[in-house]
Amino acid sequence: MDEKVAIGNHIAEHGVAGDGATWAVELKEARKTYRTGPIEIPALRGVSLRIAPGEFLAIAGPSGSGKTTLLNIIGGLDRADDGEVWVEGKNLQLLSSGELAHMRLERLGFVFQAYNLLPVLTAMENAEFTLLLQGVPVERRRERVQKLFLEIGLAGLENRRPGELSGGQQQRVAVARAMVTEPVLILADEPTANLDSATALSLLDVMEKLNRDHGTTFVFSTHDPQVMERSRRWIRLRDGQIASDAAHASHVLPFVDLDALVKFSK
Ligand SMILES: Nc1ncnc2c1ncn2[C@@H]1O[C@H](COP(=O)(O)OP(=O)(O)OP(=O)(O)O)[C@@H](O)[C@H]1O
Ligand SMILES: [Mg+2]
Repeated sequence: MDEKVAIGNHIAEHGVAGDGATWAVELKEARKTYRTGPIEIPALRGVSLRIAPGEFLAIAGPSGSGKTTLLNIIGGLDRADDGEVWVEGKNLQLLSSGELAHMRLERLGFVFQAYNLLPVLTAMENAEFTLLLQGVPVERRRERVQKLFLEIGLAGLENRRPGELSGGQQQRVAVARAMVTEPVLILADEPTANLDSATALSLLDVMEKLNRDHGTTFVFSTHDPQVMERSRRWIRLRDGQIASDAAHASHVLPFVDLDALVKFSK
């Protein structure tokens, strides 16, 4: 077996080296079937995976393969019909809708393909929105957003409305909105799909920097080979199942003991 595939499989199967690693995400045989009238559409057909804290992971696969369904189930926006979905050590299947909403607000961040910014709010107001929901006082909100804007190249654009920003800038605001609560996990559904390739790469720079500096786990879906190339691990879905799961050897997490992993996987 190719070494990098072996390492990828090892991480996928056993997580990072060291004891007591709790998974950021763990799915066991998760299934989801959509029903519209008499028609049943199987979107996830038994997906099992483990994502370690701090991973930077891409989910790829053709249209209709289940990427959005998988992200929505991990993010508690939708529920699996069967199997187990664990996020941050919590079994989402056992949480009430209120508890799921609380987890989304406090622990997770979401980035969508279409940015989903509120057009009447400024960049600053959009980015601070979740902090507002959390009841954080205005000075602390502004301070946090300003710091993030500086980190991701949005300083000076605080008072622009989405219509006065480029697509790449709008998506950065959306990333800031997702990051501002300091979530442990960001789920991004095709975050670069509406961006040209140079802008897509610079958004990836931003996400990588936040992943590196804050340790935030990033899971994003993509159709874009250049985005996959920049991820450290990629999972390909096909027809609602995992077709492959591999890591870039050159990108393996810094705290993984590579020698031990390679020996282990032989
Ligand atoms: N709300 C829904 N009702 C019925 N069927 C749905 C619903 N959402 C998704 N599906 C179906 O489930 C399957 C998986 O859809 P999903 O949106 O997860 O795919 P995807 O990989 O994200 O595709 P894309 O790349 O086009 O975004 C598809 O066959 C889709 O038609
Ligand atoms: Mg999708």
